[in-house]
Amino acid sequence: MTTATPPSPPSASLPRPAALANGASPGTATTEVTILPHPDLCPTGLRFAARTGRKLVDELLQAGVAIEHACEKVGACATCHVHVRSGADALQPADDEEEDQLDDAWGVDAQSRLSCCVQVRGPALVIELPRYTKNHAREK
Ligand code: FES
Repeated sequence: MTTATPPSPPSASLPRPAALANGASPGTATTEVTILPHPDLCPTGLRFAARTGRKLVDELLQAGVAIEHACEKVGACATCHVHVRSGADALQPADDEEEDQLDDAWGVDAQSRLSCCVQVRGPALVIELPRYTKNHAREK
């Protein structure tokens, strides 16, 4: 009588990357973020693993998307406006202060958020960057 050794799970034998592209260590909880193509900021679109719990604006910048953030990410300028086209159900809803700032953003719709007010959550997010921002500092 022979006994067979059960095969190990495939993932156990695969090498793990030393770090994710955004500098997160393996094992860090991540959310797959897809950026839809934007003619200036991301012409071909982008998909990357964002660190769950981090500000979306920081993860976008870390991934090389040069989104504006004129107030240095304190929710006071609306230049970091994005549209969350998918995955918004996993996010905390906007509070009154964020809603007030969004009133000044260009092209606001029901899926608009300020990326400095959004903590990355959930399995996946699809983000569309607005064509324009309302950046008073750049209008001089
Ligand atoms: S960076 Fe100013 S509101 Fe987000």
